[in-house]
Amino acid sequence: MATRKPMVAGNWKMNGSLELVNQLSVAVNNIKSADLDVVVFPPYPLLSSLIEQGVTTGAQTVSENEPGAFTGEVDAQLIKDLGAKYTLVGHSERRSIYGESNNTVANKFARAQQVGLTPILCVGESEQQREKEQTELVVAAQIDAVIDKLGLAALKDSVIAYEPVWAIGTGKTASPEQAQSVHKFIRDKIATLSSDLAQGLTILYGGSVNEKNSELLFAQPDIDGGLIGGASLKADSFTAICNSAKRTV
Ligand code: PGA
Repeated sequence: MATRKPMVAGNWKMNGSLELVNQLSVAVNNIKSADLDVVVFPPYPLLSSLIEQGVTTGAQTVSENEPGAFTGEVDAQLIKDLGAKYTLVGHSERRSIYGESNNTVANKFARAQQVGLTPILCVGESEQQREKEQTELVVAAQIDAVIDKLGLAALKDSVIAYEPVWAIGTGKTASPEQAQSVHKFIRDKIATLSSDLAQGLTILYGGSVNEKNSELLFAQPDIDGGLIGGASLKADSFTAICNSAKRTV
């Protein structure tokens, strides 16, 4: 089986300050190591400061378009030029609050790769969809939108984050078994197309991960780390979560 390097990503959402940059960059620089990727996704204006402190960063979203008359949007090339390495695409808040469709998300994924940013494709079902047993259907459609538009090979230089919508910011984490089952579904689905690609693909879990539940989640065979929201804003919690990924993946 391919060995995948664990990753812990901190999604600050619309939170943070220069003060938090200073606190978190000290913490991240202390836990950085060759056997763990740590990436921070701050609001745009804080990217440069984190990069200057030596932190690996990504954007929370990018425009699907090339530069032009798109007031308020941010071009992926600019993010890349600043020194960021990643971008989230299709976070559930972008999908639900800003109406991003699977097609828009696939376009953002394409634009990110075009400029050399690694997209982290966020997928996940709502509570209602889980109750109707549509989890696999929904997640498959979110992934297929990218494969259909860009081809399977596009997934090679990407990361997938499974984030059940009902677990984001709610304190209701998926159980390790629930999360593992969807991660395995994703990996098996891709393995039917390419076993090598599936084995090498990093799949993160996100949704109310904290320092108490991270170790068991990250110990699951198909969970390669986490995408952390609330707990990524506290240096102690984020450090503990990163350490649990180092130990268990
Ligand atoms: P949460 O957010 O950890 O606060 O649930 C996760 C995310 O939205 O990426």
